[in-house]
Amino acid sequence: MKPPKNVTFFPLFFTLLVLPSLISSWKKEEFRNCEETPFCKRSRSKNPHSCTLIATDVSVENGDLVAKLVHKSGDLEKGSGNFTLKHLVVGVSVYKNGILRLKIDEGPNLGVPKKRFEVPGVVVDEFLSGKVDLRGVLEEKIGDDLEESWVFEVCDGYEGVLRRDPFEVFVREKEGKSRVLGVNSNGLFDFEHMKGEKEEGEEWGEHFRSHFDSRPYGPQSISFDVSFYGADFVYGIPEHATTLALKPTRGPGIEHSEPYRLFNLDVFEYLHESPFGLYGSIPFMMSHGKDKGSSGFFWLNAAEMQIDVLGSGWDAGSDNIAMVQSDQKRIDTLWMAEAGVVDTFFFVGPKPKDVVRQYTSVTGTAAMPQLFATAYHQCRWNYRDEEDVYHVDAKFDEHDIPYDVLWLDIEHTDGKKYFTWDKLLFPNPEEMQKKLASKGRRMVTIVDPHIKRDDSYYIHKEASQKGYYVKDASGKDFDGWCWPGSSSYIDMLSPEIRSWWGDKFSYDSYEGSTPSLYIWNDMNEPSVFNGPEVTMPRDALHYGGVEHRELHNAYGYYFHMATSDGLVKRGNGKDRPFVLSRAFFPGSQRYGAVWTGDNTADWDQLRVSIPMVLTLGLSGISFSGADIGGFFGNPEPELLVRWYQVGAYYPFFRAHAHHDTKRREPWLYGDRNTELMSDAIHIRYTLLPYFYTLFREANTSGIPVIRPLWMEFPNDEKTFGIDEAFMVGNGLLVQGIYTARAKDVSVYLPGEQLWYDLRSGTPFNGAQTHKFEVSEENIPSFQRAGTIIPRKDRYRRSSTQMEHDPFTLVIALNSSGAAEGEIYIDDGKSFEFKEGEYIHRRFTFANGKLTSSDIGHSDGKSTYSSPCTLERVILLGLSPGYKTALIEPGNKEVNIELGPLRLRGGQGAVVPTIRKPNVRMAEDWSIQIS
Ligand code: GLC
Repeated sequence: MKPPKNVTFFPLFFTLLVLPSLISSWKKEEFRNCEETPFCKRSRSKNPHSCTLIATDVSVENGDLVAKLVHKSGDLEKGSGNFTLKHLVVGVSVYKNGILRLKIDEGPNLGVPKKRFEVPGVVVDEFLSGKVDLRGVLEEKIGDDLEESWVFEVCDGYEGVLRRDPFEVFVREKEGKSRVLGVNSNGLFDFEHMKGEKEEGEEWGEHFRSHFDSRPYGPQSISFDVSFYGADFVYGIPEHATTLALKPTRGPGIEHSEPYRLFNLDVFEYLHESPFGLYGSIPFMMSHGKDKGSSGFFWLNAAEMQIDVLGSGWDAGSDNIAMVQSDQKRIDTLWMAEAGVVDTFFFVGPKPKDVVRQYTSVTGTAAMPQLFATAYHQCRWNYRDEEDVYHVDAKFDEHDIPYDVLWLDIEHTDGKKYFTWDKLLFPNPEEMQKKLASKGRRMVTIVDPHIKRDDSYYIHKEASQKGYYVKDASGKDFDGWCWPGSSSYIDMLSPEIRSWWGDKFSYDSYEGSTPSLYIWNDMNEPSVFNGPEVTMPRDALHYGGVEHRELHNAYGYYFHMATSDGLVKRGNGKDRPFVLSRAFFPGSQRYGAVWTGDNTADWDQLRVSIPMVLTLGLSGISFSGADIGGFFGNPEPELLVRWYQVGAYYPFFRAHAHHDTKRREPWLYGDRNTELMSDAIHIRYTLLPYFYTLFREANTSGIPVIRPLWMEFPNDEKTFGIDEAFMVGNGLLVQGIYTARAKDVSVYLPGEQLWYDLRSGTPFNGAQTHKFEVSEENIPSFQRAGTIIPRKDRYRRSSTQMEHDPFTLVIALNSSGAAEGEIYIDDGKSFEFKEGEYIHRRFTFANGKLTSSDIGHSDGKSTYSSPCTLERVILLGLSPGYKTALIEPGNKEVNIELGPLRLRGGQGAVVPTIRKPNVRMAEDWSIQIS
């Protein structure tokens, strides 16, 4: 974000109070640290084993294990004023595929003043229907315990334990009983009860800078420790601009360090290395280690959260008696939330991909995007007017650079009233969209959740009349400052309001929109320029009396959901939506893409974009990317080129820039740089069939499009800390260049097999670190031996125009002369793939024979037809002596020739090639070489 250009319209108080914070770079003091956040300070100050709760009254009800938590001494706690809480209610349930769910709440009818908030609409129905009834709960003494605990099966090989005294819940392996994951193993569990009435002299309200939070229910936080056994590292909990492997935030030698904060905020000029919370929050952590593989933990809670990764020795001095198998290596973490309930999920793994599958079985897998959305997007704040749009569009063609989507930022509207057009700048929006659509191109407009308080604006009129705005603590429509000036915010928690909002995208309602127009949701943390920490006050009120503090991190999620559902509705449920969102929460992957917000044009920010995108991916959000070039500032040409070269592999590939920056479309930096950026974009287009296949994998299994190396090589310890290189699917390894004028770069190639340079075809040994000379032409990228990668090599203006183009298969043979790969093809836009209308095939190369066979259709047949053929097969690593290829059906023999590798930016390498097999991609075929 950035203050509006014309600050003279601002009320004085705003100019004085807020503006200084917006015009300089990130200021720590604008945001709360843990010390200034009562729940964080309180939880962090607890000593291990300060929790004195024990589990009692255990029984199995409706297939769940239920229990009460009471203090050893009897009553739980005296609530202030009018009630005494006797116990907490615990529920443990087990779901298919190794998932344990632990819920803890105050429970009904105990005299609490208000039901604590549980986040609706995140856990998918399919998951709920996979509940497994608990049977055969056994009693067992854990270690030297005096009393018995309860043990039950979680899935094959794993069992859950509800420990009585001290209270603890953990999962362990059945054989050997070694632990996997546990809550309260260090006795840090703490549950602050919502209060009834204030006692004399009690003050619950809280000040932060000039803001006051009335906290009408007093403090109500929850915290507990989670231990990941056998872990070498923990990962996840986006969004932070930091390393992929999370660094410890507490422990010996770590001073003044903040916990990782999960609180959706619009942060101006964020730092490239910080645990500070950014635009989105996913309270999901995953561990990985050589001994045990991976496990995962998710806390469904939308309130502010703070998470400490506790470095080894953090508990030195305390008598850590609860650890039964203290010899087991582990990483302890401390989870603290301001409100909500305990609703947590344990994932047993044991492989990294298992954990991702388990997590996305709870929150949903990524939506299948339209094909165009996986291609290149050109954005800028702002493309000024229609003429500018036509100019940029024509320049792409003039320079033979493909692109699919042109974006319009806030200035396209009439006074920042979304769903309107500035009539002078954009007099004919429909015609403009249609002209671009004729080349297969789309447009995107921005629609933010703040609504200008202007009585002549139809959205404001309806929203205020219907009572659809979030209310302030006094019950009036909340009025905050954002792009349009005085604004109110649609209350996205209510399903009725979301449906109303969705209707605003119908072609009738959104004037000037056409079927080739898609949407960008920004500022949905929500950003409130004059609010505490640039967001909404925590005591603002939502539908059902829910306080903003309880739902803050999910606000943007519901907005994204409403917009995405609206786009589905406008096309009568036929077309897949495309909505980019800045804020996110678990489940956002079901509604579209996200990006990493307002980064800066510097090398460190280019580097940190990779761990940020990787972390989002392993947390379910596969479709993400960073602004190419950096949003703030002017990148030097070399940085811009390097950003395109890495960004071409981001799942979401979009260039974007702030309005104060110099124009930076790819043809503006001299011929050589244009060529280099164009090469990078072309590589993405060549690899689109591979990317689209990976998007489908994310859609069916949750496995992200780009992945950390250890997700593919979980036993190779050397990969655990790597976050400058990454895998695209299981077949490509890419290493970015993150420094100016780099001469060489070291790249670790994992595994025993060879890796083939993507452009020269040169093989390199695995399980070795190689030092490569760096060229300006490209960044190191390699195909893994044993894989087959589909490409489309013809250059067109947009992905749509490539629809019927023929394919190339690049086969990288492993040491046994074998390889495998997949292709997924569908119509690229509709939902018909859900009815089986797609081509999904596996390619297998073994014993000199390449075969294509159907996967995914139970009858072995696809009803989706495509005229696409295979025009070329490239064989990397083929031993000499092979001369011919016999193609079936057709009994056609062709020669194996030396042909160009044909990847833009390559050095004219030649490789064994089978030209024009011309078999149809939709059908069974084989090619035998001899
Ligand atoms: C926010 C967005 C940025 C956008 C700007 C104007 O700062 O993050 O991408 O260009 O607002 O809408």
